[in-house]
Amino acid sequence: MTDQYQKRSAPSAERNQGPIGVQLGTLLPEHAHVLEIASGTGQHGAGFTQLRPDIIWQYSDIDPEAMGSQAAYATENPEQLMSPIPVDVMVEDWWQDIADISVIYCANMIHIAPWAAAKGLAQGAGALLSTGGQFILYGPFLLGPDSAQSNLDFDQNLKRRNPAWGVREIQGVENLFKQHGLVLDKTIPMPRDNFLLVFRTL
Ligand SMILES: C[S@@+](CC[C@H](N)C(=O)[O-])C[C@H]1O[C@@H](n2cnc3c(N)ncnc32)[C@H](O)[C@@H]1O
Repeated sequence: MTDQYQKRSAPSAERNQGPIGVQLGTLLPEHAHVLEIASGTGQHGAGFTQLRPDIIWQYSDIDPEAMGSQAAYATENPEQLMSPIPVDVMVEDWWQDIADISVIYCANMIHIAPWAAAKGLAQGAGALLSTGGQFILYGPFLLGPDSAQSNLDFDQNLKRRNPAWGVREIQGVENLFKQHGLVLDKTIPMPRDNFLLVFRTL
């Protein structure tokens, strides 16, 4: 892990942390053990654990530099923030060594990764979450003909950077997670044409 203990901050995470926190504050069950996939700078976990002192938050990421930042946040609240674990959702059986998780949270990842990442995420979430478990996905999504122009533009921009990336259709994401026992329970519109999708295990 390079840049260990160097806290980082992303303007987008600073902007969306407040609105997401308002939702998570009430959505998360009491004493939830949350696994965050693709924690990035670690700001979200740091902010949400302040809002909810009853929860435990496990950071994870594929990127060693991001994990360094997460580790730095974790040292400030070691009771609630667990040091990051390496997770690449495109690796087969990535969830094998993880246990006792009641909620999985993932923000802004599945559009900046191949569709195989969404598939791996759905497979792992289905395997890790027992009955009553919750999976929360935040980011931009397409809504067929009702898609926001900003998200259509963003989709084109992403595809120019990498043809395997792209803003995903909510319907496709819903279908994918259903195949792994997770049903879409709430679709919450968020600022700047983002959504918070809340899935529950059957
Ligand atoms: C745009 S950042 C989002 C960070 C944070 N969740 C947020 O909303 O601020 C995308 C994150 O996805 C991670 N990521 C990309 N591919 C991944 C994969 N296959 N498995 C796990 N994490 C991945 C990156 O390392 C990065 O931290």
